[in-house]
Amino acid sequence: MESHKKEIIKATVPALEQHGTTITKVFYQTMFEKHPELLDMFNQTNQKVGDQPKALAFTVLQAARHIDDLEAIVPAVIGIAHKHRALNVKPEHYPIVGENLLVGIKEVLGDAATPEIMDAWEEYYGEIAQVFIDVENGMYQTADWDGFVPFEVVKKDHLSDDIVRYTVKNDTVEYDLRAGQYITVKVDPEDYPNEALRHYSICSINTDEGLQFAVKKEGSGEKSGVVSHYMHDDVKVGDTLELSAPAGDFLLNHEEDKFLFIAGGVGATPVMAMIEEAIAADKDSKFIYSVQNEGMHPFKDEMKAFGEEIDVKIKYSDTEGYLTHEDFEGMEDRSVYICGSMHFMNAMIKVLTEVGFEEENIHFEPFGPKMSVIGE
Ligand code: HEM
Repeated sequence: MESHKKEIIKATVPALEQHGTTITKVFYQTMFEKHPELLDMFNQTNQKVGDQPKALAFTVLQAARHIDDLEAIVPAVIGIAHKHRALNVKPEHYPIVGENLLVGIKEVLGDAATPEIMDAWEEYYGEIAQVFIDVENGMYQTADWDGFVPFEVVKKDHLSDDIVRYTVKNDTVEYDLRAGQYITVKVDPEDYPNEALRHYSICSINTDEGLQFAVKKEGSGEKSGVVSHYMHDDVKVGDTLELSAPAGDFLLNHEEDKFLFIAGGVGATPVMAMIEEAIAADKDSKFIYSVQNEGMHPFKDEMKAFGEEIDVKIKYSDTEGYLTHEDFEGMEDRSVYICGSMHFMNAMIKVLTEVGFEEENIHFEPFGPKMSVIGE
């Protein structure tokens, strides 16, 4: 890209970031009007809550900081690209997103949106899109299978008041699971206007009985997550679920030797598989788990079994309080893997850095979109 065009992009980013929410609103509105088929792909609950809508547009704006060296954004692109691959986002979708994002940008810039500025944005979007497309092409080539394939539900275990584990089977595909990965389920609930895609973490690397993942029932009443309620209430043993191949980059680094696993609530799901993998690799590991109370506590038997191999500490927040500094003292030399809500993770990262853990040794995976994936 010519340098004067880069200057145009850089000069317009602050104003656009200030009105990012407007860009996002206009972008989604126009895109779904023109391409209602894309409603199947996007999580309509996240749309309402406003997390993912912000994530996509803000990522494009934030990436502009690296406009002089777009290769630098590749590491940050990888996590998003895993999600895109799992959702079956294809190269032909990029121009659609680009065209409608530009409508949003034009609206925010108003009279300032000269043809020169809009040209520069169009070209720049094309460059970012190409980075994503290239990374995703590589992922499509190595995925365990193409698109969505049917799996039979062979087991459904109620693990706690609001978490169910599904075991699903398809003997025609082969897969090699890594702890920390997720699968993506495509369902079509009757009382939902579109098809829906949801990512659910794999909770075991053991596939003797099939592939296992866990689903939390989200919300209640008017605020119910339609899809998770459908999964809990309507999907039964013997039913078929469409799954795309395992994805994700929240994986154990086997070059590290001493682990501390921390999970909150349903965040235990990927961590269970990670502990299994760490124990199998004979790694020195500890596990600290925070959950509201006994009723909400999933994987009780599995955690008990882990307790025979490694240190396991379970804290019920209703009666024993939240995890705090003293829970982590003396463990500062360990590599940490955290999973839980965004709020839980932010709290943990703060406590751990105050205790003296190095930020670079703290790996985390939020449940829900990562908001500022590409930043400074
Ligand atoms: C998710 C960025 C293009 C569909 C996301 C997320 C980001 C993002 C940051 C959130 C990731 C997370 O949850 O951690 C981008 C950027 C793009 C782009 C920068 C262009 C350069 C596309 C295209 C499509 C698409 C072309 C398909 C039409 C989605 C969907 C999700 C997603 C469906 C998941 C959101 C949900 O579940 O509602 N993207 N994206 N994205 N993206 Fe993209």
